[in-house]
Amino acid sequence: MNPISEKLQKCHEQVRQKTDFVPRVALILGSGLGGFADMLDAETIVNYSDIEGFPVSTVAGHAGRFIFGTLEGVPVAVMQGRVHYYEGYSMSDVVLPVRLMGLLGAKTLLLTNAAGGINRSFSAGDLMLITGQISSFVPSPLIGLNPGKLGVRFPDMSEIYGNELRESVKSAAQRLGVPLREGVYVQTSGPNYESPEEIRMLGLLGADAVGMSTACEAIAANHMGMRVCGISCISNLAAGISPNPLTHQEVQDTADKTAPVFRALIKEVIKSI
Ligand code: HPA
Repeated sequence: MNPISEKLQKCHEQVRQKTDFVPRVALILGSGLGGFADMLDAETIVNYSDIEGFPVSTVAGHAGRFIFGTLEGVPVAVMQGRVHYYEGYSMSDVVLPVRLMGLLGAKTLLLTNAAGGINRSFSAGDLMLITGQISSFVPSPLIGLNPGKLGVRFPDMSEIYGNELRESVKSAAQRLGVPLREGVYVQTSGPNYESPEEIRMLGLLGADAVGMSTACEAIAANHMGMRVCGISCISNLAAGISPNPLTHQEVQDTADKTAPVFRALIKEVIKSI
């Protein structure tokens, strides 16, 4: 059997032994957003470490658990903590959680992250709706034997972030009076931040924000037919645009500061899905 499918199936069976919850929406919480889980009427919590074979984050302070519950009546699977490619996992492991949430029943994936602002009109603390992505600097998560039950070998990626969901997010932001930027997200491998020269290149290529997650997850979700939506918290100006050296602390501090508004926006979006 295909090892990727086999591992996924084993993880799926283990979660199904713990809960029969069927999410409509899957949500991955980025930096600073962990507290969003408190807004949920939680039904079941499953620690990643209790799922044999499931990738567990090695980054200090990343909780690492699924919270299955409802938000305003909408059944949601929330990932508090994700794993990144820079931790040394294969891309197929990095996207296993997304596929698992798809198998549990989620039709829509809402991705959040902290990202560096490349677009010079952006400021730290801005929220950016992802309109499209560049993932060419990291391997495709679909490399390897294709889990054929999930999707086709050569999937189309013409519109990963569908217009309907983008309009829902924009309406939600308008209702709340939250200013929302829009732009293209580029994924780099990390864990180092980019050099100013790389940021200049990425800007020339059309990227507005840069981060170390999300694009691979969006590809895996699109492959299996999920609707995808993404919002970035611009936690810092990217290297060379910011006058200061980049630090993880700055990223976390801005993400924490922006979290209340970001949380409110996500809640409003989920209500409307
Ligand atoms: N670059 C890459 N990833 C990031 C950044 C950045 O500037 N900020 C937050 N995540």
